[in-house]
Amino acid sequence: MSSNKRIILITGANNGIGFETAAALATASSKNHVLVAARSRSKGEQAIKNIQARNPVGTLSLVELDVTSDASIAAAAKQIETEFGRLDVLVNNAGICTLHTVADTTREILHSTFDANVYGPMLLTNAVAPLLKKSKDPRIINVSSTMGSITLRSDHTDPLSANNLAEAYRMSKAALNMLTATLNFEFKDWPTPCKVWSFCPGFVVTDLGARDDGTGSREWKKNNGAENPETSAEGIRQIVDGERDGEVGKFVQRFGKQGPW
Ligand SMILES: NC(=O)c1ccc[n+]([C@@H]2O[C@H](COP(=O)([O-])OP(=O)(O)OC[C@H]3O[C@@H](n4cnc5c(N)ncnc54)[C@H](OP(=O)(O)O)[C@@H]3O)[C@@H](O)[C@H]2O)c1
Repeated sequence: MSSNKRIILITGANNGIGFETAAALATASSKNHVLVAARSRSKGEQAIKNIQARNPVGTLSLVELDVTSDASIAAAAKQIETEFGRLDVLVNNAGICTLHTVADTTREILHSTFDANVYGPMLLTNAVAPLLKKSKDPRIINVSSTMGSITLRSDHTDPLSANNLAEAYRMSKAALNMLTATLNFEFKDWPTPCKVWSFCPGFVVTDLGARDDGTGSREWKKNNGAENPETSAEGIRQIVDGERDGEVGKFVQRFGKQGPW
């Protein structure tokens, strides 16, 4: 692989926002090589086929990666090192959300939510940090959520406050936001300091948080005002392309907006 390509790793890139982001970045520039990370090889391969059907100018390849598995993270980092020798952009996108109230939340729900949404991004970042350090322009985008804003959760007049069905998820995204602040501090003395953002992709139609009774399904989301995940992908593309460099270390949103921590 040509070393002048920008190597971009997107976790959970087989579906939803990750998929649209992989498609947007592969479409944006012939200099982009998108590593489509998926925990299922077949789903990842299908995603690449679907993006290639859009005739992108950039290139794509698969990385099998379950962010809750240390062995899978180590193997993915090794694969990227062998194939590319460095990494330019890490998009920590993979995440889960199970819908439960505070009273219904169990240790298992907390564990699985934090495993995918917090431990995974942190441990994957650690594993690929030596590869990012070799980049001339290293970037990390942590896909967070306004649901994780402590400021908005504390404002009981905020419309999001009425949603009390994703409490473990809210906590995990607040923790992910702290990871953003921590990485900005930790990686500021690199030869080229690593730029890190938290990004809220907005409320968009994907499979996240769908329940058997239909709550959270794509149809439910559409009926409740969710937008197209292509808008989220465009927001991530702007960060990758340097259009939000004045906001490094911030909690940014789509359409040039910022949110409170
Ligand atoms: N949709 C929204 O409105 C919204 C709003 C705010 C924030 N977000 C954030 O956006 C990100 C993407 O969510 P989405 O809405 O696109 O959801 P989605 O459609 O459910 O996609 C989630 C992706 O993450 C992958 N994933 C889950 N657990 C994983 C693991 N352990 N290892 C590797 N990959 C894993 C899934 O893979 P499988 O297909 O194998 O399950 C899937 O590819 C999440 O971090 C979410 O919190 C979404």
